[in-house]
Amino acid sequence: MNTQEHEIHVYVDEADLFEFSKSEVREGLLRSPKELAPYLLYDEKGSELFEEITELPEYYQTRTEKKILGEIAPIIEERYEFRELLELGSGSSYKTRVLLDEMHQSGQLELYLPFDVSESMVRQTAEELSREYPEMGIYAIVGDFNRHLGKIPSGNHRLLVFLGGTIGNFKPQTAETFLRNVARTMDPSDRLLLGTDLVKDTAVIEAAYNDSRGVTAAFNRNSLKVVNDRLGANFKPDAYEHRAIFDTEKAQIEMHLIATSRQDVRIEAIDLDVRVEEGEYVLSEISRKFTRSTVESLLASAGLEMTDWFTDPEEKFALSLGAVRG
Ligand code: AVJ
Repeated sequence: MNTQEHEIHVYVDEADLFEFSKSEVREGLLRSPKELAPYLLYDEKGSELFEEITELPEYYQTRTEKKILGEIAPIIEERYEFRELLELGSGSSYKTRVLLDEMHQSGQLELYLPFDVSESMVRQTAEELSREYPEMGIYAIVGDFNRHLGKIPSGNHRLLVFLGGTIGNFKPQTAETFLRNVARTMDPSDRLLLGTDLVKDTAVIEAAYNDSRGVTAAFNRNSLKVVNDRLGANFKPDAYEHRAIFDTEKAQIEMHLIATSRQDVRIEAIDLDVRVEEGEYVLSEISRKFTRSTVESLLASAGLEMTDWFTDPEEKFALSLGAVRG
C-alpha cells in the first residue's frame, strides 16, 4: 500500500451492534450466575468514569503501562525497525503517539492501521494523527474482534498492539481464539505487543477495583443504566452494591453487582423478565491477572512465541512481544 493514502473500511453498523447486544444480554441474563457483557461498561458516561479510574491512586495499571511503554518504545524500534502500527481497540492516543514518534524518528513510519468497533473513535483518531504525521498512510478498520480480524490487510515489519490489559477481560477460550485470529494476520517480521496486568498481593488488586472514592462502584452500576438506555430495561442501579473480589484459583478479579433486595426486572427490547434475588449478584466483568509463564502459554496456545518480556521494577504490569512460530 502506498503511503499517504487514507482509507476507512466499515464492517459494522449501529443496527448490527444493536442486534448483537440484544442476544448477548439475553444469553448473559439467562446464565447462572447472571452476567453482563463488559463492553456495556463503556458508553459515554462509562468511558468518562474509566478515564477517572486510570487516575486513581489505587489503580496502578495505566500509569505503570505508560511508564514501561515510554522506556521500551526506543528499544523495540531499534531492535525491529517497524514500519507499520496496527492498533487493536481504541488505545489512548498517548500510547499511539509514543510508538508512532519512535517509528517516525527512525524514518521507518509508513502506515497506521487503527481497528476499533466505534466508527466515530476510528475517524477521530485517524483525522488527528494524519495531521500530526502527514507523510503516514492510514488504513482504518471499523470492525468487531470476533468477526473482522480477517479483513486486516497483510503487511510486514508491523507492530500490532493490544494494550491496557484488555486481554484480561476475555475468558480463556475467547482470549485464545482472539489471539489465534490476530496471529493469522502476522508476517514473521511482525510482533504483537501485549499488555497484561500481573498477579500480585490480593489486597493490592482488590483495592484497585474497590477504590476509596467509589469511582469503580459508579462505573460498575453504570452498566445497568446502559442496559436500561439501550434495551429499554428497568434496572434500578441504586438497588445494587458494587463488589470486586480476586479469585486466586482463576487468577481473576470479578466485578459483581449485588442486589440489596429482590428485583424484578423487565428488558423490553428482548421481551425478557428476570428476577434477581436479594443477595444474588450479576457478574459484570472479569479481569485476569497473569504471570510470565501464563502469558507464555496464552501466546503459545495461539501459535505465538514470546520474544521479549518487559516489566516495571515491582513487576506490577507487563508488556510482552510475541511472534508467529516459524
Ligand atoms: C480497561 C479492561 C483493562 O480490567 O482493569 C477498571 C477495566 N474495570 N476498573 C481492567 C476496569 C474496573 C480495565 N480494563
